[in-house]
Amino acid sequence: MASPYAIRIIGDPVLRQRASDVTEIDGRLAALCQDMYVTMYEAQGAGLAAPQVGVQKRFMVYDLGAGDGPQVLINPVITESDGECEFYEGCLSVPGLRFDIVRPSTVNITGLNLDEHEVEFEADDFLGRLMQHELDHLNGILLIDHLDEDQRRSAKKALRKIAMEAPSGVAGLGAELGSPAKSKFGLFRS
Ligand code: NI
Repeated sequence: MASPYAIRIIGDPVLRQRASDVTEIDGRLAALCQDMYVTMYEAQGAGLAAPQVGVQKRFMVYDLGAGDGPQVLINPVITESDGECEFYEGCLSVPGLRFDIVRPSTVNITGLNLDEHEVEFEADDFLGRLMQHELDHLNGILLIDHLDEDQRRSAKKALRKIAMEAPSGVAGLGAELGSPAKSKFGLFRS
């Protein structure tokens, strides 16, 4: 089955907006999650936040690959975070870029599932990192916002490459590069 969605790529303004709370958990949302599973698996991602498929709502799908199958988390909130660790992190919306990024090592999460039940859990290791990464997406924050100066420099090179290879849908990439979208970045205006 082909993915019903194209994953939005950095430069798309939808990735920079704060998503709003899910107010209705219904069949429509469940169907959307099913579609997002397909998109996530096809992209070989471990998680996908709704803004990445252009939906400005606070939910995510994920699969840790431990045999539990795909999960949904709606209106997630980090209630507590602790520790610090470095993790080699990538993002489907920032293709080809991976960086060692420091974040809290353990987070406590609350949210809702598709049955409208409140869930609460502690997440560390891979799940902890995934939760923080996807929550960032719901707040319009991207991987590149966590980079240090050196990482940022090499990210810019990689982002230019992304722009060259994707002439459409990257209208905002000039801004992501910290430069106005003009002259040599004329491509980004398409
Ligand atoms: Ni991501």
